[in-house]
Amino acid sequence: MELAQAQGTADAEPRDVASDSADVPLRGIDHLAIVSDDLPGTLDFYTRVLQMRLIHVRRVPFAADRGQPPYDQLRHYFFDMGNDSLFAVFEYPKGLPKQNRDHIGGMQHVAFHVPHRRFDEVRAHVRSCGIDITDPIDLGDGFLSVYFYDNNGIRLEISTRVEGFDPSVVESARQTEASAREELQTLFDDPAEVEKWLSRMPLKAE
Ligand SMILES: [Fe+2]
Repeated sequence: MELAQAQGTADAEPRDVASDSADVPLRGIDHLAIVSDDLPGTLDFYTRVLQMRLIHVRRVPFAADRGQPPYDQLRHYFFDMGNDSLFAVFEYPKGLPKQNRDHIGGMQHVAFHVPHRRFDEVRAHVRSCGIDITDPIDLGDGFLSVYFYDNNGIRLEISTRVEGFDPSVVESARQTEASAREELQTLFDDPAEVEKWLSRMPLKAE
């Protein structure tokens, strides 16, 4: 049986909305799995360019019931991407169509976080590996990012928070009520919906 796709239930209130980061039951990414048809190239890219550690190598049997890859005994390798999270890759057969990151359901990009004190070092290292990487782009609110592509054509970003801003990824994303309201009013016609979502956001003081 195919896994049902997650569906929004507009009329069902969440039973318990997390009001504090500590209430979020998830703890970030366990592993993020990408698809490649060039495992040696991907091993090289993620260990040399992004300086991850190869940590586990295995094959996975085909199973039809949980969205597994439609091939038996594919290679599935795992890398330590820092902060107790794994980056994973499946090796698919060659000749398959490439994903389009701009199609619905596609993964548009992956952004890795780097502390500001190591940002210049990391981006210089990526460039020294011969990778075409942008100059730092100021995204506002202390966000600074560089963009490039991996050996599979996956769009990658390295993001940091500049000095003077909260180095916490989550805390630095807080915004003022006015700024959040201005955007939410473009999403909802119903003012009650705007207020409902605003009341759930940990807003920044004006
Ligand atoms: Fe991004």
